[in-house]
Amino acid sequence: QGYVIGVDLGGTKILTALADLEGEILAKSRLATLADEGQTVVVKRIIESIEQVLKDAEIKRKEVQAIGVGCPGPLNVTEGIIYHAPNLGWKDVNIKELIKNEIDIPVFIENDANAAALGEKWFGAGRNIDNLIYMTVSTGIGGGIIINRKLYHGANDSAGEIGHIVIDPASHSECGCGDVGCWEAIASGTALGRLGKEAVDVGQNSLMEELVDDIDDIDEIDGAIVTKAAAKGDKVAGQILEQVTNYLGIGVANLVNILNPEMIIVGGGVSQAGDMILQPIREVVNQRALKAPAEVVKIVPAQLESEVGVVGAIAKALVEIGRLN
Ligand code: BGC
Ligand code: NA
Ligand code: ZN
Repeated sequence: QGYVIGVDLGGTKILTALADLEGEILAKSRLATLADEGQTVVVKRIIESIEQVLKDAEIKRKEVQAIGVGCPGPLNVTEGIIYHAPNLGWKDVNIKELIKNEIDIPVFIENDANAAALGEKWFGAGRNIDNLIYMTVSTGIGGGIIINRKLYHGANDSAGEIGHIVIDPASHSECGCGDVGCWEAIASGTALGRLGKEAVDVGQNSLMEELVDDIDDIDEIDGAIVTKAAAKGDKVAGQILEQVTNYLGIGVANLVNILNPEMIIVGGGVSQAGDMILQPIREVVNQRALKAPAEVVKIVPAQLESEVGVVGAIAKALVEIGRLN
């Protein structure tokens, strides 16, 4: 018997969990990342969270076979280097080494959406599915591609960076990557919120204004407010949602044509709106993707919800030690 630990390293919180070799979670921890306080503090927090789950589950360090860490942005899986994590303000950080210096357990890092793809493949909506794409629509848009049961990494681990495919070259919306018109610049949760704010800003009459906690603060309009207003029949929000789901559908149709997946699993904050988001995506895919790949693909919500990241990190560790294949 042995154990693994998964760490979901986000810009605001660190979710850590300890699991047995079947992936059964025995202890969990949730800490604020404190990204503003710098890299040393964040690494300390990670170690602290690992120690906390060990203690809670009454497991000794030496019983842990691997630690999986999921983190947004492109990274080098082999070296364990996070090239660029905008939400942490990190550049070229060897997280593998930093953790190993404190705790002598093998560390395996993975892109957040790639890890989530493994989580959904082994423990979520993708069980028994060999070819799938996981996509998250939240602050950004991320993706993980599973081909023949294995995560596809590409030439240098950047495969699946679907948020930066250009969907609207005429768009002026700037992306964090420096380009304009990227998928995540026009169809992420952030984009949805921005469009809501802009509409209210130019004086359009909308329920969105009333749904924020503080009525004078339209900065509080985010993706969730837009979908909520649209669900209540608000016209302005409905139009914004239609535009964004159309962009989501176009991107998904492209993925369907390229990879012919059996399933596309949609996670992230925006996907919590369920069929309100998924149904229009399915319709656009049916209109735009080729008939053969469109016919087979199932577009479904993620099952692991807010735990997808940490379960994904656990799955990553289990894959690396050969427990899942
Ligand atoms: C990053 C991806 C990440 C996604 C979701 C994108 O901006 O480029 O690496 O998976 O956001 O967090
Ligand atoms: Na990815
Ligand atoms: Zn981009």
